[in-house]
Amino acid sequence: MDECVRTPCSRVTRTDSGLHAISYAFQVPTNKNFLLLGIRVRLRKIQFYWQWVRNGYGVPAPQTVKLSVLSRYGYLDGTWVESGTYLGQTTEFLARKASQVITIEPSHELVTRARKKLSKFGNTRVIEGLSEFELPKLLSGLSGDVSFWLDGHASGGITYGRPEDTPIREELKAIAKYLERWERAAILIDDFRGFGARGADQGDYPSRSDLVSWADENELNWTVQHDIFIAYK
Ligand SMILES: C[S@@+](CC[C@H](N)C(=O)[O-])C[C@H]1O[C@@H](n2cnc3c(N)ncnc32)[C@H](O)[C@@H]1O
Repeated sequence: MDECVRTPCSRVTRTDSGLHAISYAFQVPTNKNFLLLGIRVRLRKIQFYWQWVRNGYGVPAPQTVKLSVLSRYGYLDGTWVESGTYLGQTTEFLARKASQVITIEPSHELVTRARKKLSKFGNTRVIEGLSEFELPKLLSGLSGDVSFWLDGHASGGITYGRPEDTPIREELKAIAKYLERWERAAILIDDFRGFGARGADQGDYPSRSDLVSWADENELNWTVQHDIFIAYK
């Protein structure tokens, strides 16, 4: 019976067509084990989405909502630089759309996983290191439309660093030097709520008003969408 599910077969049973219907509805593979795993993951996503709606669209937003912000404000088919690869979920999304994706991650374990996951994409490079050192080195080689997803910070578990550490000051300082070179640019910074109140720096984190000043000084438009600070031209 499984053979019929995997290969074209004239003898389609009721169970087969049921499996196909479920796999089509949830957009998951027809293999039974993968199908169940896929359905569980999708259902968890739907559950998280509804919790978010019931909680009044607060923070954090589901991953799909964050990706829609990246799609709306970033230049999706240009070059993307991401700091903080983690499991490579956003990297994979970008790899499918962008001409080039460069992602930076200091955790050796996460880099190994991400390289494996992303190896099928010829347009994607995973750099092992700290963004405060690696990102500035890349910038002179970028041209056209360039977007940044700045998301490198400790997030517990096997992620790198201490909660008070962030490469954001060095990243923004380096990006500012190159902004004029690029036709269009978008700088998206996640977890805006984690930045300090006016004048109240926290650890290495600048304040929210420092981010606004940085955008103003560099003559960029700015907005905040779903806890993501976005500066763009
Ligand atoms: C919130 S996760 C990134 C999530 C990912 N960008 C996504 O959208 O799915 C933060 C990641 O940043 C990494 N990280 C911590 N310090 C960093 C630094 N200085 N430079 C680059 N990445 C860093 C952590 O190891 C962790 O994997």
